[in-house]
Amino acid sequence: MRIGLISDFEGCAASLEVGLQVCRDEGADLIVHAGDILEVPLSRDPPAETIDRLRDSGAFAIPGNHDRWLLDYGTPRWPTTAWMRLRRRDPLFREEDLPGRIAFWEERLIAGQAAIRAHDRAWLADLPEERTLDLGAAGRVYICHGMPGNPFNSIWPTASPWNDNVGSDDIRAAEMLVRMADPGIILCGHAPDPIQCETRGAHGRAIPVVRAGRRIVVGSRWLAGVAILTAQPGAAEPWRIEHGWHEYTPRDPTARMRFARLSD
Ligand SMILES: [Fe+2]
Ligand SMILES: [Fe+2]
Repeated sequence: MRIGLISDFEGCAASLEVGLQVCRDEGADLIVHAGDILEVPLSRDPPAETIDRLRDSGAFAIPGNHDRWLLDYGTPRWPTTAWMRLRRRDPLFREEDLPGRIAFWEERLIAGQAAIRAHDRAWLADLPEERTLDLGAAGRVYICHGMPGNPFNSIWPTASPWNDNVGSDDIRAAEMLVRMADPGIILCGHAPDPIQCETRGAHGRAIPVVRAGRRIVVGSRWLAGVAILTAQPGAAEPWRIEHGWHEYTPRDPTARMRFARLSD
């Protein structure tokens, strides 16, 4: 059993295409996309290109905080989603700027939603927030974006100021979610770098946590992170984990600047 793990390509269809192709070339039996499928408020490439590729791949996908922030505006889920973002200590805006900043964000979220085809929005909205897959002899796999129960924060690892709001009760609840699912491995996304660390499951059992990394720019090279996980049932290390960066060519290298102007 091989899993190809990708995440956080955030609306860059070219990096997603390379990430999916690497997973196929490596013989992945299943592909996991751990969220941040699109970028809020506007994606680098037309959202349809990302959604078509991801849907056609048959990948097991979950939304990330970008997707939630973009899609949940104007829906019954918005108060919970906005609350999760607003309780982070890296400010979205200063309180004294609030009226103007709300209008700023509303305008861009409405524009961002309008850029997504209606059936793609419905497909994204139907994705489960987290997943537990049962892979038989290879065990169970827990998939979340940031930390269990919350795509806006991370505990593997925590970083300041983005996770300064995460307290011991939040960590305890996240660990309880993991123990309830009883996985052999946890796959997540959200933070930029690949990771491989451990958390403690039921009875103190060590559970590997893996993040593939996102898309990055190094000098003039555009790179997409992919992790390939191979099950080794019965071995001392039940999963062999290989990380790699894979080059892609963005359709429009200037889109980053255009997005920066739009998103502030
Ligand atoms: Fe992300
Ligand atoms: Fe994220």
